[in-house]
Amino acid sequence: MKSFNVTLKKVVDDSYDIDIGYGLENRLISDLKSGLCKGYKKAAVISDSIVAPLYAERISQKLSENGFMPELFVFPEGEKSKVRKTKEILEDNMLEHGFRRDCFVLAVGGGVVTDLAGFLAGTFGRGVPFVNYATTLLAAADASVGGKTAVDTPLATNLIGLFNQPQKVYIDLDTWKTLPKRQISSGLAETVKHAMMADKEFFEYLENNVLRVFESDSSVCEHIAEKNCEIKYSVVMKDEREASLREILNLGHTVGRAIETVSEYRLLHGEAVAIGLLAECELSVSMGFMTKDEVQRVKSLLHKCGLSTDIPEYIDRKQLMEKLYTDKKVRDGKLRFVLQDGLGKVKQFGDAWAVAIDKSEIEKIILNMK
Ligand code: GLY
Repeated sequence: MKSFNVTLKKVVDDSYDIDIGYGLENRLISDLKSGLCKGYKKAAVISDSIVAPLYAERISQKLSENGFMPELFVFPEGEKSKVRKTKEILEDNMLEHGFRRDCFVLAVGGGVVTDLAGFLAGTFGRGVPFVNYATTLLAAADASVGGKTAVDTPLATNLIGLFNQPQKVYIDLDTWKTLPKRQISSGLAETVKHAMMADKEFFEYLENNVLRVFESDSSVCEHIAEKNCEIKYSVVMKDEREASLREILNLGHTVGRAIETVSEYRLLHGEAVAIGLLAECELSVSMGFMTKDEVQRVKSLLHKCGLSTDIPEYIDRKQLMEKLYTDKKVRDGKLRFVLQDGLGKVKQFGDAWAVAIDKSEIEKIILNMK
């Protein structure tokens, strides 16, 4: 017998910048000209049917005027498109247009676009660079930062994907002005989540100022975008691959993701997370980690954001209970939850940030919720 050792120790630097500002298209072009994506000229601009005419077409045009060779690939908007089939269609389309390894991917859109395009970039030609140009509050607050890329499957959301960090993230606050109110509310759910888990002062700021987001108040939008980024990247920098701490970013998501799937995406991601946040607050109360007054404040803030905290009538609560078991935090068949420790903090359990909860405990809460 002969045995070999293939030594492949790696030092990887996946650091990247996030720019927050207004009308960042020219900035993007100038970064690309300075070699942001290895100096590649071929750009696969991936967007959805709503964002493409608003932003991606113009960005493609600018790329072309500046010596790049862009091709725009557009898929139908909505979470239902975030599936393997869409990825396959986009990939085949790119291949037919002569795209190989000498290209980069530019995702222009919200969370569905950045999740899908980032995953595609990670596997296309065994990996090409990608850039996120975030055009929604949800993408700004969560999806575009942190390198989680994935598609949904019929069983649950985000089950197939990669950790794949972008070369850079652009958060263009001008784009929030064209967002429907429902989309703003959805993004605010992730914002409230960040405040609940990490920053009481930010929570209070939201209580006092959140309504001004709907009026596109620039100082409030800027503060919210910056705080979301700060809170998210401070967690990701410590635990990129969710070995432990990053689980806290799943606050509200155990129930939230399950409701989102059971609703068959009638609920937007943030709308489902809002209900999940309330369920997990109730669980925190039952365990003595949170007061009823604090839960009331969370509920009032979510309502101020235009989010309902009631489980819609069309949701089958039994099916919802079963769906909880598709959560990626499940360990040894037990449901595990991230829980609040008052406002602005999550509870730590020894070295862990999520705790196993008996099915009967969470069932009680789900059955008692409005
Ligand atoms: N959206 C949760 C995370 O990025 O970990």
